[in-house]
Amino acid sequence: MSNWTEGFIKEAIEKIRKQVGSGRAIIGLSGGVDSSVSAILVARSIGDRLTAVFVDTGFMRKNEPEMVKKTFQGKYGLDFRLVDAREEFLGLLEGVADPEEKRRIIGHKFIDIFERQAKECGATFLVQGTIAPDWIETGGKIKSHHNVTLPDGMVLKLVEPLRDLYKDEVRELARALGLPPEISERMPFPGPGLAVRVVGRITRERLEVAREADAIVLEEIKKARIEPWQALAAVLPGRATGVKGDSREYGYMVAIRVVESLDAMTANSMAIKQEVLQRMANRIVSEVKGVTRVLYDLTNKPPATIEFE
Ligand code: XMP
Repeated sequence: MSNWTEGFIKEAIEKIRKQVGSGRAIIGLSGGVDSSVSAILVARSIGDRLTAVFVDTGFMRKNEPEMVKKTFQGKYGLDFRLVDAREEFLGLLEGVADPEEKRRIIGHKFIDIFERQAKECGATFLVQGTIAPDWIETGGKIKSHHNVTLPDGMVLKLVEPLRDLYKDEVRELARALGLPPEISERMPFPGPGLAVRVVGRITRERLEVAREADAIVLEEIKKARIEPWQALAAVLPGRATGVKGDSREYGYMVAIRVVESLDAMTANSMAIKQEVLQRMANRIVSEVKGVTRVLYDLTNKPPATIEFE
């Protein structure tokens, strides 16, 4: 273990203990590296006075809730709970098109659920895995990351042990804390999930297209042994003409985005072999109902962002 991780872990555990005292805390554990590391640090600090809540928003990747449950339930001394909030989130988001509005609604709903869970277990602290780029981008008015867009009058007090760190540092901590590679090397996935990958108006059908296309992209990336910072599929607004049999079909447009980055503050579109891209495109149009067009995003950040919204 390198010196800085050892020092950081020791100091973080002490700081958390001082802040929480004899109180109780809850954490939204998504299975991403930031929230996973935060959960382990807090569990090491206050033990079973921490409750870890995985909220299934309905905007998760394919099979994600099962994977997170399998990784954390009964492990690392965590009191793990899965909350199925799919209908609650979908009910609020169906028909919403504006990205900032989506983030605001999702961020507030998360807090609403955490407050309910906190009441049940007597917690007064909410742990979040916020890292430096989240608040830098929000403060810079680039986009309001959902975990920084909190409602006024929130009663839970925030504990954010990773606030000053960047992703590569959090990954180092994850390895040092003994988290498995599926977590320590996990691709970043935004808290609002597929809601910001259905570009524009959210419908149940477009959401399923995003989920299925995303799973195909990730499978093919894994098969090709490529290790990008992030790989994703997004459903674009509008329709494109295609042919099915001998008739015209107006179908969905899916964009594939694969980027390299060090800290998400800047990113480059990755040069992927044509045959890998072609395989993704062929599979998406044949396996995902209603898709007639697949595009590859060549834009770097800046001027684009990594996500489409
Ligand atoms: P952008 O799209 O701003 O993304 O270039 C930078 C990194 O942050 C992730 N991202 C988010 N993460 N809540 C999050 O937790 C959000 O609202 C959010 N928006 C973007 C994105 O996936 C990328 O890794």
